[in-house]
Parts: sequence; C-alpha cells; structure tokens
Amino acid sequence: MPAPPTLLEPDLLAADPAGLADVGRLVTELTREAAGALRRRTGPLPALTPQELARLLDAQLPEGPLPRTGGGREAVLALARSYAAHTVDLADPHAAAHLQPPALSVAAAADVLASVFNASVDTWDSGPYAVEIERRVVRALAALAGYGPEGDGVLTPGGTASNLQALLIARDAALGARRDVRSAGLTGLAAEPVVYCSELAHFSVARACAVLGLGEDAVRLIPADGAHRMRTDELARALAGRRENEVPIAVVATAGTTDYGSVDPLPEIAALAARHGVRLHVDAAYGGGALFSDRMRPLLDGIEAADTVTIDLHKTAWQPAAASVLLARDGRDFAATTGLRVAYLNPDDDGAAGYDGLLGHSLATTRRADALKVAATFLALGQEGIGAMLDACHDLALHAAGTVTSHPRLELTAAPTLTTVVFRYLPRARGADADAVNGALRRRLLARGTALIGRTDAAGGVRLKLTLLNPQATKNDIDELIAAVVAAGSAVEEAA
Ligand SMILES: Cc1ncc(COP(=O)(O)O)c(C=O)c1O
Repeated sequence: MPAPPTLLEPDLLAADPAGLADVGRLVTELTREAAGALRRRTGPLPALTPQELARLLDAQLPEGPLPRTGGGREAVLALARSYAAHTVDLADPHAAAHLQPPALSVAAAADVLASVFNASVDTWDSGPYAVEIERRVVRALAALAGYGPEGDGVLTPGGTASNLQALLIARDAALGARRDVRSAGLTGLAAEPVVYCSELAHFSVARACAVLGLGEDAVRLIPADGAHRMRTDELARALAGRRENEVPIAVVATAGTTDYGSVDPLPEIAALAARHGVRLHVDAAYGGGALFSDRMRPLLDGIEAADTVTIDLHKTAWQPAAASVLLARDGRDFAATTGLRVAYLNPDDDGAAGYDGLLGHSLATTRRADALKVAATFLALGQEGIGAMLDACHDLALHAAGTVTSHPRLELTAAPTLTTVVFRYLPRARGADADAVNGALRRRLLARGTALIGRTDAAGGVRLKLTLLNPQATKNDIDELIAAVVAAGSAVEEAA
C-alpha cells in the first residue's frame, strides 16, 4: 500500500498544477472503481437491511475515534468502491421515490472544479469569477421567470432555505426593517402575524415561521380542491375575514406540491394578494423546472407576479444538491434584509469601487461556487435541453398513470401534473388493511433493493408515489416498476 501523503508532497493541495493533475488521476481512479461497483448492482438500493448496511461500514469506517494515521489513497479507493456499491443509484430506471434526480454528468464534473478552487461567493476577492457567474445565472433565471431588470436572486442550500429567506424578506417588509418582533407588539397579544398557504404546502413554510419568531401558529392552511390546488374562494375568505390584530406577512402559493406536483392557481392568487396588499411568495421548488420547457411553461403563468420565487435546480434541473435559488422581483429586497456591510469582508469603499461579493444577498457567509455547475449545465444543454428532460419525465408520468388506471389491482389517486403519480395497491382480500399492505409492500421493495418508490398519506390513507425524474427511463422500465409493485403487494398478502 502506498504511504499516506505527507505535508511535503507537491500534489497535496488540489488547486496547484501538480495537485490538479493528481485530482484528475484520483477522480479517474475513483470513478473507475465506482463504475465497476455500479455494473455489479442489481437495483437502486442495496439488498440489505439498515442494520446489515451499518455492519458493512464497520469494516471500513468503524465507530469510535478518528483514525490516528491515514491509509493513503488505497483507503479512498476502497471507500469509493463500497460507496458506489451501497448508496442510492438514482440513474437506475426503477428509482422513483423522491424529488431527487440523477445528477447530470456535466454538472457533477463542474462541481469537482468548484471544490478544487474552493472559491466562496461572499466577497469579491474570495471568488471573483464565481461571484459574477452566480450573478448572471440568477439574473437569467429571474428573466426566465418573467421578472424585469430589477429582478435578482441568490443560490441557497435548498428549498427549505429559500422559503425561509423569502419569508424573512416578507416578515421584514410587513413588520419594518428593524426586524424586532417586539417593536411590532408581537410578543404581546396585540398583533398576530399570519402566513397563508394551502394545506398541501411544504412543511418548510411552517418551519420558517417558527424560525422567524412568527410561530407555526402563524400559518393559516387554506383547503385544496379536488385537483390538489389551493382554493382561491377560501383564500379570499381568509384574507377578507382576518381579524384586526392579524398582520398578513405573505401568501405562499405552491407550484408543484411535494405529494402531487399540482400547481396552485397563480394568477388568481396573485390578484388576491395584490388586492389585499400582501406579498406573494411562490414555492416552485419542484415546479420551477417547467420554466425550461415550452410545453410545461404555461403551468407557471402568473409566477411573474410573485414577489419572490423558490426554484430547486437540484430537483427539476438535474443538479447535484445543493442548488436552490431564491428569486426576487425587486432585488432591493435582499439589501433590505440581508444587506450587511462587515469591515473585514465588504467595507463600503470597496463596494463603491465595485469590489462586492454576494454576502449581502445571503444568510450564509462562506458559500460554495454552486453556480459553476449550473452555468456549465446551461451552457452545455441550454434551456431546451433541460426542458426536454422534464418533458420526457412528464411523458413517463402520463404513461405510468395510464398503466395504473388499467390495472385491476391498482387505483390512481391523482393524475399527474408534472412528473408524480400517486396511487395505491388494492388488496385482494376483502377487509384487508390497505394501508398496512401498501406500507409493507414498499418496505418489501426497499429490502430487496430492486425498486425504490415513494409513499405518503393522501386521500385518507397510505398512498404510493412514483416521482419520475429519470429522463432516460423507458415506458418499459415504468411498466416493470409497476409490475414489481403489484408483485410485492401480492407477496405481502400471501405472507399475511
Ligand atoms: C414544494 C417543496 N418546497 C420545498 C422543499 C424543500 O426543499 P429542500 O429539500 O431542497 O430543502 C421541497 C422538498 O421536497 C418541496 O417539495
């Protein structure tokens, strides 16, 4: 085994010429090991229980203190082999559980470069080109969303973080720039902040309210209609009927609900929010990918009326996580909340001379050059390339819905809007507990590792979910996946 590196080795540091060459060699070796392990795989998950998997790792990374001395690159190659053998394989066409796509190779490769240079976008001098790339990427996305020249944005670590920052902006806009909830009387009984969203909004909305000191009670859940879209008559009633001491912070519409992919009626919601003078945030973490597709774009009509928009490029733009973006129709929203001048980072005179980074846009300080992989993707595939991927996944979802509908043992819960199909297995035995059978059949698939599907509670019980984000999967793959679900359901029933 080669000796572990010492501090004197010329290739120890990634971003010098010898180091970069070594990164190239190491990445080649790591990916070769990973490819070998991938070829031996039989499904998207390892056919192991969580306990068996933990025991396997014991041999490589035992619990306890850190290794005192390093094992050199052999140790890393072994880790790459076992990682590729045992982690999730999202490129497997039978992986369809979560809003977690297989990453694009061009984006993954560009991400290596981001790691090599380790630039940060908080200040100009910590990552000059990276800062400018992020500025251009977010502005291009702002324009794609229909915003004018004042539109701006920032990359964040996820939809949860983007929603939090959007509600921070909304809170400060509603309560005043001092961000002092006491000054608005909010610790007393007087004023009550409220945030309106549909009952199907992502939990991060309520979590953001908790973090922002508004309390989860601030959330007013508006019922959804039969198509899983926010009911605008109920929103109108809630807005018009609010008590005098209620301070509306924002309406949050969802463009692509987590469970169904349904899109709230954005134009009507925007009109209501405007009529009542309330800010509108659109959580398009999932549905934002429709911006790239001519076919799906009409789903997002009205999004340009939102004050802020969350788009997760690590969902429907096939980026390695994390690559969420928060867009604002008026870029001054960032300065009003996170705009901060810090003597050691971005003093005023540096900023005035153009030496400005993105610290003032973000809740983070050190921040990766995540825009590099996004820019690489846009340059390589263009808007049409990404849009075509979403269209392909949409086609798969329509096909899956048709297959489910025509199968006597399956029941479709919701027709797909984007790329999600919600359904359940119907047990043969009368009186069988359908929820228990559906839960057990999914675990059976997990244990065998050959198919990975999602689950949720919907329509009063356990439902199964295909979140189809592999544009290279075929209709035949989808039919096999559905057949595996039915076979697992039968097996669960037989075993009962
Ligand atoms: C609609 C919606 N918003 C926000 C999020 C949170 O995104 P993240 O997991 O990137 O924090 C999700 C995650 O699935 C989502 O579906």
